[in-house]
Amino acid sequence: MQAPSLLRRAAVAGAPAPEQLHVQFGADAAAQIAVSWAAAAAVSGPRLRAGRADGGLGIEVPAQERVYADALTGETVWTYHARLDGLEADTAYAYEVLHDGAEPVPGTFRTGPRGRSKGFRFTSFGDQSIPAPVGRGLGPASPNAAYVVDAVDALDPLFHLVNGDLCYANVTDAPVATWAAFFANNMRSARHRPWMPAAGNHENEAGNGPQGYLAYQTRFELPDNGSGRFRGNWYAFTVGPVLVLSINNDDVCLQDGGFSDYRRAHLPGYERSGLDSYISGYSGGLQRAWLQQQLAAARGSDDIDWIVVCMHQVAMSSARFNGADLGIRQEFLPLFDAYGVDLVVAGHEHHFERTFPVRGILPGSALLTPAPRSFDPSQMDTRDGTVHMIIGGGGNSTPTPAASFGTPHDGVLITGVGAGGPARARRAVKITEPAPWSAYRDLTSPYGFASFDVAPAEPGGTTSITITHYGAAAGSADYCPLDQFVVRKPLRGSRCAGLAAGRLAQAR
Ligand SMILES: [Fe+2]
Ligand SMILES: [Fe+2]
Repeated sequence: MQAPSLLRRAAVAGAPAPEQLHVQFGADAAAQIAVSWAAAAAVSGPRLRAGRADGGLGIEVPAQERVYADALTGETVWTYHARLDGLEADTAYAYEVLHDGAEPVPGTFRTGPRGRSKGFRFTSFGDQSIPAPVGRGLGPASPNAAYVVDAVDALDPLFHLVNGDLCYANVTDAPVATWAAFFANNMRSARHRPWMPAAGNHENEAGNGPQGYLAYQTRFELPDNGSGRFRGNWYAFTVGPVLVLSINNDDVCLQDGGFSDYRRAHLPGYERSGLDSYISGYSGGLQRAWLQQQLAAARGSDDIDWIVVCMHQVAMSSARFNGADLGIRQEFLPLFDAYGVDLVVAGHEHHFERTFPVRGILPGSALLTPAPRSFDPSQMDTRDGTVHMIIGGGGNSTPTPAASFGTPHDGVLITGVGAGGPARARRAVKITEPAPWSAYRDLTSPYGFASFDVAPAEPGGTTSITITHYGAAAGSADYCPLDQFVVRKPLRGSRCAGLAAGRLAQAR
């Protein structure tokens, strides 16, 4: 019975090499890792060997094969995923991936710390793209998409958050090659530390699965969210006292962000099949219910000090580029308020901007404009509200134009969509609003990323995250620290819990 399967396997001699190697945390970063890779054809015996870096590769586990056929080009993509559980916390591991007839490809990773035992660093950006054009060059490739990988890696983060619009596969004539270029470019970092993604509007490849996310879902092995259909679209993982929630805003956004002229014109049977990239509301409330459950559990736990949300489209922006989306304010911000989300990292807008802590809305605001609750741009207490960051200069070739930062310093909000439909992008309806929430924006650096240094327990009973934005010029590999601020608050259960962190910081 195995003969048909064996027949379509590549001959063991001359088997394609493992490629596009990358690691991901499981739900418990202290104990769980998934290692993923791809191959140019189906392979036999895909497996992972791993062990502590100071020992041998004593663990061997088989990898699961997951395959998809790209709707635009008809190409088949073979991916392999091996999961490890029961690992030791805060420990360096070495591994190699292999299959029959191929040389092993090595990597390393480090598990997360347990509880508040140790500080750590993570990094984040969105909207990366790839370093050089593929196919007809329709995607937003730029050299900075490569430079930023080395800049991130130089800081040796424990993990990295990719805030959506990974490689813009949905706008190209060569989506499979674009994904391959993305992983080939990032693998020198991502095979040594998890690059944990959020799905953005440019991961929506109409025709690849019901919501267009089949390539994204197949290529990553992300923590389970309990819904088979939407696996990977949203998920959670815990690192020390930090809970990271990756969510998919296309489920709630009003903007038609996934439409691709190229796919509409070239994908066989696009209109006949009834394809439509507009997927707002696709989970039918399932994602929101999951998010609420996760937030409630985290706020009921004495083990979680920080809740960080990684998402793509933004709730606030002061650029006349995409704009923020009212759908996020309607669906997600009330949950962020109710359960005290500390930090949001996003992209979509291709620049750097950050807010004061926001909670609730400006009095009487029909646009649900978030209300700032404190006004020190360098020291913030997230008990006052949620700090949002736009970090969308990851590498794509279309930074937010300088002219988009107009005077006055207004917010820009998408409140709906106008004419359009499955075969023509729906036009976004935008409005401007006051932006008292805007704490800082970088008008000059087209490219950048942010680092987050988590101090789990400080003298005096506080915990903090020091956040630094690094910026670079177009075509430059020189990323410099340009902006820094600190979020600080009392540890859960600390006897100092009543003392505002800002006042504590000033007393030092
Ligand atoms: Fe983008
Ligand atoms: Fe986007």
